[in-house]
Amino acid sequence: MQTITRIAELRATVTRWRLARESIAFVPTMGNLHMGHASLMSAAHLHGRRVISSIFVNPMQFGPSDDFSAYPRTPDDDSSLLGEYGVDALFHPTVEEMYPSGSVGSTVVDVPGLTDILCGVFRPGHFQGVATVVVKLLCLVQPDVAIFGEKDFQQLTVIRRVVDDLNLPVKIVGAPTVRAEDGLALSSRNRYLSAAERAAAPAMYRALDAARRRLEAGDMDYAGMQAEGLAALAQAGFRPEYFEVRTADRLAVPTENDVRVVVLAAGRIGKARLIDNIQCAAPRRG
Ligand code: PAF
Repeated sequence: MQTITRIAELRATVTRWRLARESIAFVPTMGNLHMGHASLMSAAHLHGRRVISSIFVNPMQFGPSDDFSAYPRTPDDDSSLLGEYGVDALFHPTVEEMYPSGSVGSTVVDVPGLTDILCGVFRPGHFQGVATVVVKLLCLVQPDVAIFGEKDFQQLTVIRRVVDDLNLPVKIVGAPTVRAEDGLALSSRNRYLSAAERAAAPAMYRALDAARRRLEAGDMDYAGMQAEGLAALAQAGFRPEYFEVRTADRLAVPTENDVRVVVLAAGRIGKARLIDNIQCAAPRRG
């Protein structure tokens, strides 16, 4: 696997692949890779002759009280894993390489509406940072396909919207969430959990799944489901942030005609902030 730290070298590599008419699949990450990332790399191999991943802990998407400096960085382990996953190249730039004029005060990508709801309420500016770095990475790598995990469902929705709105020539593919046997969604932030918190954390998945069953049975009492979900999170020791039923395409409050819905939750437990979601098909009632 080729490890690339400079934009000039990245451009040269991508140009070589393009001249050879090789399709490119891209998996952006912030490193600290786990089995969830392995599934993103497998999906990438289905979509591109060449697979490239990036590791960049993007300062622009962390707020002042977020875990930017503490965010787990495991570059050596990540490189070996990416080699095992058959990745052709890793782009691992410094903050200076990505933001030569600094990440504060530079051009940003703003997606009104979608970014100030759900996680956006609790992490102001987060999705602006994500959208900005993803657009920069897509412009640099110029992939045919880019893969993002469905665990970060709001992020995936924001990215799809940015790509549509800016007519970026890339197909965005969502890869299903990978879970531990007890249902906990795999996440780099799970490593912040103590043994007791780890044992309690799958309550988020169980609460989402209970709401899914109600929705699939035709229940439309969203307020009731949300209250039940928040209570289940609190009961398990979370400091819940939200538990919401939304449409799967625009994250709007569903009407009786909406079939594809998603239940999303976020909460803090110990030092970790965990998010998860479950998509489902509600019977049409309109
Ligand atoms: O999901 C992530 O790891 C990050 O938000 C992303 C998409 C790599 C942008 O920094």
